[in-house]
Amino acid sequence: MCGIFGYVNYYVQRSRSEIVDTVLNGLARLEYRGYDSAGLAIDGDKPDEVLLFKEVGKVAALRKLYASSKINNDRLFDSHVAIAHTRWATHGRPSPINAHPHRSDPNNEFVIVHNGIITNYLALKALLTSKGFVFESDTDTECIAKLCKYVYDLNKDSARPLDFTALAKLVLRELQGSYGLLIKSVHYPDEIIATRKGSPLLIGIKTEQKLKVDFVDVEFPELPDITVANNIPTITTPESAGLSNLTVPHLMTSNLLMPMDGSDLRRSQSRAFISEEGTPMNAEFFLASDPASIIEHTKKVLYLEDDDIAHIYDGELHIHRVRREAGEPAIRSIQTLEMELNEIMKGSFDHFMQKEIFEQPESIINTMRGRIDFEKKTVTLGGLSSYLGTIRRCRRIIMIACGTSYHSCMATRAIFEELTEIPTTVELASDFLDRRSPVFRDDTCIFVSQSGETADSMLALQYCAERGALTVGIVNSVGSSISRQTNCGVHINAGPEIGVASTKAYTSQYVALVMMALLLSDDSISKYERRTSIIDGLSKISSQVEEVLKLNDTIRGIAETDLAQQKSLLLLGRGYQHATALEGALKIKEISYMHSEGVLAGELKHGVLALVDATMPIIFLATHDSLFPKVMSAVEQVIARSGNPIILCNKGESALSKLGKTYRTLEIPQTVDCLQGLLNVIPLQLMSYWLAVKKGYDVDFPRNLAKAVTVE
Ligand code: F6R
Repeated sequence: MCGIFGYVNYYVQRSRSEIVDTVLNGLARLEYRGYDSAGLAIDGDKPDEVLLFKEVGKVAALRKLYASSKINNDRLFDSHVAIAHTRWATHGRPSPINAHPHRSDPNNEFVIVHNGIITNYLALKALLTSKGFVFESDTDTECIAKLCKYVYDLNKDSARPLDFTALAKLVLRELQGSYGLLIKSVHYPDEIIATRKGSPLLIGIKTEQKLKVDFVDVEFPELPDITVANNIPTITTPESAGLSNLTVPHLMTSNLLMPMDGSDLRRSQSRAFISEEGTPMNAEFFLASDPASIIEHTKKVLYLEDDDIAHIYDGELHIHRVRREAGEPAIRSIQTLEMELNEIMKGSFDHFMQKEIFEQPESIINTMRGRIDFEKKTVTLGGLSSYLGTIRRCRRIIMIACGTSYHSCMATRAIFEELTEIPTTVELASDFLDRRSPVFRDDTCIFVSQSGETADSMLALQYCAERGALTVGIVNSVGSSISRQTNCGVHINAGPEIGVASTKAYTSQYVALVMMALLLSDDSISKYERRTSIIDGLSKISSQVEEVLKLNDTIRGIAETDLAQQKSLLLLGRGYQHATALEGALKIKEISYMHSEGVLAGELKHGVLALVDATMPIIFLATHDSLFPKVMSAVEQVIARSGNPIILCNKGESALSKLGKTYRTLEIPQTVDCLQGLLNVIPLQLMSYWLAVKKGYDVDFPRNLAKAVTVE
């Protein structure tokens, strides 16, 4: 998905090349999220000059374009604001003109980068066009830049000049949709506005002197805010009549003039940034949609909340809101990132995906660390402790997620039902919303997400919260929207996952969900033995994962010689292994672009068998559990039709000897039935990896996919 990076230096002298390097490196750290074009805006040499560089393709192409510009790279800046962006096309094809930053006018008076979608952009565009603005791109974003200039021009002759925050407030109230947004302007040199609604944005802070306090005060208007003060009814534009979401609330009414509400925002000082002498300190700020891009500069970060308007000027960071809701916190804390730089580097591996597959023995341990007492057979999940009673009493559990995260729900649903005895359903977030499925106050809704930013899951979360259900997050990204907007939850602690194909997050989500089921059932005597065997299984799972990883070379061989030339692949499993089949198939299709289908083995005879012949590659997940005899019967049906399956089975599985010699095996250590999927999925992750490598595909940047899918 789109990525935002901004850099502000205040009395920290930097050359232009250092500034550009900082933003380009920041963008490069966002590359894993998926994008098709990139751009940046920096100050030029003349007064009021802002330069834009935009290019289709990788950040390296943008670097090349910049290098060819013959610009004076040695020019020094005491203070400066640079903004940059990686774009994932939604409105308009990838092209330099559609790439961000977008501008207000040919003089680049306002330039902006934006993640998200402005849903009323057509109405805004029509109105701004009628005011003489000429649009150059096909994007929804461009209207924001033009709106900034329109509002600025309307107010520029007024008695009191509009400050950047006030301008942003007037602009933002016209926007519908979602945004993470940075605004830079020649009218507010060395200042930046950063704001978000439904799209992540955080600010890294670097100062030589220690900050005086580890929080920033939120500044609320002293008098009724401008939105309330004007009290203008929403007006539908002629162009958009009939389309209720295409409205521009104030634009047609010339109520874009700053009211005399007395809120002199410049009066305030931001306590954190004032030195012992009472003056602002030298500071650098890194604004980004993802902490991975700022970790090399600073670990001190502030996560913006929806509707926060951050205004950085004179070395201070101010956070404004247009109104104060009852009980709303009056500060934003400056937190310390736990992430280490080496966690987002490839090290000796060729790809992030490969590194993350091989990290799983450790990432699984990290998920359990401090949470399971293997001797006392207890589980503690601090993030759930205040809500355990509510969850235990709930009428049903609904697990909601997308893609791989959905598969981790599928993989653990049965053990949830078995241990908690609470009816548990698993929902794809998009389908759940499409159906407007009924949700009640006594439901517990669990949202599982690696990124914590997936738009479908976020919308489903809002839907469930509005209906009064308890919302629980099982999330990897600390500080993400889902982790902050759920009532309670568990961080899976898998560490940053950079590869677009999710691997270690899957196994950690799986473990986190099993731990949650164990915790919810720890008051049940009848479940004691079962719980004990699962906890014992978890104590060995990391070393068993290590053992499975030793199959790497064998799997590479199978992928390269047997499967790479094939067009299609079936993966069959039932019970706990149905989820493994689905997840394996998703991994294979998303990075090796080979059609693969995960099939419930019990459904084989209901249609899929028609595909089976001597040439169709088939993988069976036939590890030992209560359904093993049924899976074996499916294997026999395939062999009877001349199929040559690859059978993933437990070590020394004797039942296979009766099958003759038309199959191959991949032997996996045995664990408790409900944990077996943690081991079985690993050969499939490796298989997808080696298939993609063999075919020469870009493993970490699969086509048409993004790491965080922040659009519906
Ligand atoms: C597949 C994959 C996607 C994500 C899905 C949900 O490898 O990564 O299917 O699992 O987009 O993303 P999160 O977990 O971030 O909500």
